[in-house]
This record gives sequence, structure tokens and C-alpha cells, in this order.
Amino acid sequence: MKVEINDDSKANVLISKYLQGQFAEHLGHGIYDGIWVGKDSPIKNVNGLRSDVVDALKQLHIPVLRWPGGSYADEYHWQNGIGPVEKRPKTINHSWGAVVEDNSFGTDEFFELCRQLGCEAYVNLNVGSGTVKETVDWIEYMTADGDSYFANLRRQNGHPEPYKVKFIGLGNEAWMGGGYMRAEYYADVYKRYQTYVSEYNGPLYKIASGPSEDNFAWTKTLCERAEPFMDGLALHHYALTNQWNDKGDAVDFDEEDWVSLINSARQMDSLISRHLELIPKTTDLVVDEWGTWFNPMKGTNPAFLIQQNTMRDAVVAATTLNIFNKYADRIKMANIAQMVNVLQSMVMTVGEKIILTPTYYVFKMFQAHQDATLLDAFHESNNDLNYTISKKDQHYIISVCNVSPDKPHDLTVTLPSQFEKPTSAKCLNSQQMNAHNDVDHPDVVTDKDFSTYTVDGKSIRMDLAPMEIVVLELPIK
Ligand code: AHR
Repeated sequence: MKVEINDDSKANVLISKYLQGQFAEHLGHGIYDGIWVGKDSPIKNVNGLRSDVVDALKQLHIPVLRWPGGSYADEYHWQNGIGPVEKRPKTINHSWGAVVEDNSFGTDEFFELCRQLGCEAYVNLNVGSGTVKETVDWIEYMTADGDSYFANLRRQNGHPEPYKVKFIGLGNEAWMGGGYMRAEYYADVYKRYQTYVSEYNGPLYKIASGPSEDNFAWTKTLCERAEPFMDGLALHHYALTNQWNDKGDAVDFDEEDWVSLINSARQMDSLISRHLELIPKTTDLVVDEWGTWFNPMKGTNPAFLIQQNTMRDAVVAATTLNIFNKYADRIKMANIAQMVNVLQSMVMTVGEKIILTPTYYVFKMFQAHQDATLLDAFHESNNDLNYTISKKDQHYIISVCNVSPDKPHDLTVTLPSQFEKPTSAKCLNSQQMNAHNDVDHPDVVTDKDFSTYTVDGKSIRMDLAPMEIVVLELPIK
């Protein structure tokens, strides 16, 4: 495949860094044990947050983190999770296995996590089972700076400065677990909630609960009734091998399953383009849940959504990020589900040990595109290659993914200017479709130096092995 970019002077679309956002829900070990171990844990931690996980995640330069759900957001009552830990009530997590939630990780712990990761917060508010007042009070607790009750309560809890919150979600999957609402009804509920959220500490970016998958009627109705009141509309799309009732195994799969999962992931492209046709340009699309979803790992609590992560997941991640880049003019945020121990995670924890997944390395490589200028992005479902070409800090950045499990491919890119040899040339590959890392073999799939490229003037040719992902950074002469 050959690509030629003759002129980059008119390129003005930014690939928002927020497209590489993460999501952490109170679900299984997504928070507890995975991130939060508490201050008295024998596992090394800073203010209760495990250092090995935080250190690994810091390498990804995570731009934004969505919390506390997902489904759990619509049953989360924030006042249970503030103040002295020993006084916090124990509640039940009805969304995920009816386990006891001790609320030791709450609002202040979440912002400590964001501080340690150096990321921004995306707080998903409770519309399903909460009240407008509860929401208004939470915003005040988090962001108000004056002499008011909830701002003072935050100070009393040891946090004198208001937190910076830009992104808020009003409800989650309102069409299902968030209240089984009709789009017409949710549009009114959304408008009511958003009326009362005050902006104390900078503008709030309000995200409405958008469609699932191909529910175009939801998008149409919601936009007709509430679009002027929103900044972003959320879309959720999970990649599945089969059907919701039998999602296949994360590791034990054949080539047919490979193709079926990759095709499911690639539907993201048409879902985005078709929803965007219905969304006025004044509202962004926010894909705040995406990723692979398999049957739960054998021997684990099925409600905890624990699954291994293979080379196949890495190809899904790279392809999806390239698809997002293709629509960077209209998508402003995306959040992979989920950051630690749940679904397509970056990090898995096993007691005191951690595993970095193949998906972790995709995010590590792709961070070069964060806030870069888009020159070209390509994804078509009948082509094994998908790619993004961007420009940042006097570098060209090329990411390319070969989704074929058995065919090599080459990509030649001709760029507008001469460039020096890459300052970084990384790849992720394997000869096995289900290659993965585990506690005993933590480095089976890791990023490596990429060397099968040749430069000729302003052109670079890359030779990709089957199921290989490559990211190059080329300094412009
Ligand atoms: O990510 C897991 C769950 O999937 C989320 O809680 C929910 O929003 C979605 O159905």
C-alpha cells in the first residue's frame, strides 16, 4: 500500500489527547486490590494507591480517567465515600456481583489517583438512582472555592483547594442499566440535571448518555430534544467474538474467532460515521466505553469481568485508536474499558504482582499521537492495514497495524518534507495469535525495536509481519 502526503500546511485537525482516555469502575478488582490497597497494605503504596500500578500507568501519560462507572455510577451515592474511612458506611454493589463496597475509595481518593497519574478527571454522575440535589452538592464538594457547606466539608476532609473537573457525564446507558428510559424521557431528565450543575472552577463539559452500538433512533431523538444542552454525546461499542450470551474465550480461540472479533471491533468505524450524521456539529462524540469483552476467566467471579489480554486485543486497540484518529475532527474523547483488571485492561494484578498487557504496549506506543496534528488516517474494513500519520514537535508520527493473522503487508508513506532517521521505531508482534503475558511469563508480548523499514528521500517503506503494530517517530529535517 502506498500513501502520499504532499502538503501539511493546511492540516488543522488535532488528535485530542483525550482519545487515549481510560475508565476505572467499582467493578471486581478494577479499583480494590487493582489500584487501591489502602495505606496499611504490605503492598507498596502512596496514600493507599499501589505504586507498581501507578508507576506503570504513568508511562502511558493518561490524559483523562472516567470514574466511578459505568453502571455503578448510577447507583453511587458520593457521600458514602468521603470523610474518615472508619465511619464510611458499607454498601452493596448491586451492579457487579452484590459484593460489599466499603467505600474506602471515594471522591478524595479518586482525585489523589488523578494527581498521581497526572491526568484529568471525568466524573460520571448518578442520574439513574440519584437526585438533582445530590449531583449539585457533589459538584460543590469537588469544585467550589467559597465559604459554602460542601466546600467546607471538603476542607474539613483535608482538601483545602477545589479539584479541577472539566468532564461530567449525566447518567450512563440510560437506555438500559441507567434506568431503562426512553430517549424522549431521558432527554428531559438530562436537561433537568444539567440545568442545576454550577460551574465554580472553570467550564464543565457535559456528556449525555448516548446510544448503544447501532441504536440510531436514540441518537436522533436525543439530539432533536436536548442537543443544545450538551457538549458531548457518549457512544458505547464492545468488540465481541460471538453474541452477548456467549462471548468466546480470551485466549482459547482459532482464526475464525480472530476474524470475527476484529470485524466486530472494526464496526466502530461505521458506527461512528452513522451516528455523526445524526449529531449536529456543535456536539462532539465521546466513545466513553470501548474494548473487547469475552467470557469471564475460568475460576473467577463472573461478575468481575476478568479476562486475559492477547495479541488479538492489541490489534483491536491499535485499529480502534486509528479509527478514532480518522474522525478526530468530531470525536473529542474515548475511554477504553477498563484500566486495571476489568475487560480489556492495561494492567492485571495477581496479589503482589502485576502484568502489563499487550494493550498496555499499544497505548504506550500510540501516545506519540496525543495532541498531534492529523495528516491522514485510514481504516477500511476490506483492507488489512489501518494507519494514522500525524505531526507534532517537528516530528512525523506514523502508526500502522496489520490485522491479518497470516499475511505480511507493506506500507510506503511519502511525506511532504525530508526527515532524519527515526528517534523512535517500535513494534508489537508475535507469531501466535493468542500470545499473552502472565505472572510466570510477563514479557512474552512487549514493545520492541522495529527495523524492517527503508528510507528513500521523503519516503519510508515499512514491512509488517502478520498481526504487527508499528509506531515510528521521524524528526523533520
Ligand atoms: O464496562 C462494563 C460495563 O459495560 C459498564 O459498567 C456499563 O456501562 C457497560 O454495560
